[in-house]
Amino acid sequence: MDFPGAHILSIQQFQREDIERVFRTADRMEPYAQRTKLTRVLEGAILGNMFFEASTRTRISFGSAFNLLGGEVRESVGMDSSSLIKGESLEDTARVLSGFSDVICMRHPEAGSVAKFASASRVPVLNGGDGSNEHPSQALLDLYTIEKELLARGRGIDDLRIAMVGDLKHGRTVHSLSKLLSLFRNIRVVLVSPTELAMPEELVELLKVAGHQVTVTESLEASIADVDIVYSTRIQEERFSDRAEADLYRGRFRLNQAIYTKHCDPNTVIMHPLPRDSRAEANELDSDLDANPNLAIFRQTDNGLLVRMALFALILDVTQLLEKYEQPIPWHNSRDPRLKPLDDQA
Ligand code: NCD
Repeated sequence: MDFPGAHILSIQQFQREDIERVFRTADRMEPYAQRTKLTRVLEGAILGNMFFEASTRTRISFGSAFNLLGGEVRESVGMDSSSLIKGESLEDTARVLSGFSDVICMRHPEAGSVAKFASASRVPVLNGGDGSNEHPSQALLDLYTIEKELLARGRGIDDLRIAMVGDLKHGRTVHSLSKLLSLFRNIRVVLVSPTELAMPEELVELLKVAGHQVTVTESLEASIADVDIVYSTRIQEERFSDRAEADLYRGRFRLNQAIYTKHCDPNTVIMHPLPRDSRAEANELDSDLDANPNLAIFRQTDNGLLVRMALFALILDVTQLLEKYEQPIPWHNSRDPRLKPLDDQA
């Protein structure tokens, strides 16, 4: 893939060597994210961060990643405060905003909307989530996390055993992750969801065509016994016609420490793209798992910053210039570097 100037719309643009390039660039971002060094390599550059659908971590993570490389961020948040509500087309919005920015990140509730926007943009556009369709930067940070967690256990991504759990029909993170896993070898994927919220057939097919072993089930306990990763997801209530319908499924696959201890191998890694739904105690991951060292959910968000910094550096073609624009950190750094998988810290 030719990174400089590329739009990132789908994870299917990536080949294995591109993923390797993103991950090894992400590794180089750690000192900047940890604030042991500054780089001003994107000084003067502007990111347009356009989030037309709810977001906390993806929006702030993209924005912070850009800031950490020295760039500035301008934001538009929510449909109500943008001219889309006055009937402006996505293409016109793109024509205007791309005149103000060097790169744009966008999230929108409609599948395909970010590609439509990109078709009229004069600068690279990164898909921050388009409806139920895709969330490519999340898939990259998820796989980067999987790589790091498994490395600490002496394993690699090939031969991975993963259970994806929850709303696999609407969850764009599991859609993009499944597409990404289809590039690797000999993966065992267990898809755990209510039948009504099953993974779309074409994605199951894609995994099978890649030679992976796919099991579809409605039972959480039976499927988490023999996997490296349990990847839990939220019921995507915003994609249902009403909340009552989403309530039918909420809490169906709740994982807590007792279930983990009883059914999982002791080293099983627990992931979730977040936010986890913590109403009514917990609907996916119980807070009693917070003390479990294999809960990787906050390592995922830390890794997300590194991966998004890498994407910006590759797309704006500054990976060779990071060190040239380094500066010492003038302030006292009291950060606790809690980035590494726990096994690595021993
Ligand atoms: C996810 C999303 O928006 O698709 N969150 C995220 O970006 N980390 C998952 C979700 O909202 O459940």
